[in-house]
Amino acid sequence: MRVFSGIQPSGRLHIGNYFGAMRQHIQMQQGNDCFFFIADYHALTSNPAPKDVSEFTLSVAMDYIALGLDTEKTIFWRQSDVPEVTELTWLLSCITPMGLLQRCTSYKDKVAQGVSPNHGLFAYPVLQAADILIYKSDVVPVGADQKQHIEVTRDIAGYFNNAYGEIFVLPKDHIIESVAVVPGIDGRKMSKSYGNTIEMFEPEKSIKNKVMKIVTDSTPVEAPKNPDKCNVFALLKLFASAEEIKQWEDKYRKGGTGYGEAKKRLAELIVEYFRPYRQKRTELESNPDYLRQILAKGAQRARAVAVKTLIEARKVVGLGEYYGR
Ligand code: ADP
Ligand code: TRP
Repeated sequence: MRVFSGIQPSGRLHIGNYFGAMRQHIQMQQGNDCFFFIADYHALTSNPAPKDVSEFTLSVAMDYIALGLDTEKTIFWRQSDVPEVTELTWLLSCITPMGLLQRCTSYKDKVAQGVSPNHGLFAYPVLQAADILIYKSDVVPVGADQKQHIEVTRDIAGYFNNAYGEIFVLPKDHIIESVAVVPGIDGRKMSKSYGNTIEMFEPEKSIKNKVMKIVTDSTPVEAPKNPDKCNVFALLKLFASAEEIKQWEDKYRKGGTGYGEAKKRLAELIVEYFRPYRQKRTELESNPDYLRQILAKGAQRARAVAVKTLIEARKVVGLGEYYGR
């Protein structure tokens, strides 16, 4: 199977990115043909400071490699190094009904939060469809917030295939329910854009401070508590062994254990979980040239695939060969 996914370099990556997406990416390298990329064109839709774009791009690359991405086996690149994807975006835009994009909830949510939308943000799902379709991907492992974008990709592929012939593969999402929405420290979905994240590789002390700030209700220490309504417990479930989860569940239901105790244990577990990868991440930090080389090689491999699909698509819509290239 061809497995495909991407992450925007819009900030430092967090444990929601890890459990919702990256852990699956790393695992799926076994036995699949994997394509993972850094979505820097997409990140521009929120108008980041120019220096942040390249800095966060390298930071995402370091995270992936430190966590076990095998850059020999997997094709790993930066989106903007394969500009063909923007040309395909245009071909797809011309058969994408406005209504399809107007229904996209991630766009509507951003507008509702007061973001003044640019055309790139509105057209974001078409670029995402071009990403997925240009590499003829079968499966796209993502968190729940991306489900609708994969549906839109299938719709766009369907419109195009109906109009011009069966060029594109209709991809399926791969979403694991238990980790589809990891909560942030304020209880909303953990997201770089909400400032409620626990980063995988922030200093251990700062991980601890953030965990202590996780929002809980005001049930007193002695009283029984509902683990299913607690953000601390939701995160404990990601890190603790099955046996320990059961013990915490019992402690919550029985009463007599405060949230502070659960938070302390959670902070320890998070720090321990990422500690083995920290060393590798630190080594990579001092070698940005090595990262650039990896991304350059990945881009060459990705581009070879993308160009083929783009040529097919240009042909069927009637543009044909390039003159003057
Ligand atoms: P963010 O919302 O922090 O900007 P991205 O949009 O870059 O994150 O998401 C990258 C990947 O991580 C996507 O597959 C997305 O679904 C997943 N993801 C992000 N936040 C979470 C979360 N809180 N829980 C589960 N998956 C998440
Ligand atoms: N929109 C995705 C996110 O915010 C990032 C992304 C861009 C992506 N293109 C993609 C994910 C293609 C999967 C497949 O997380």
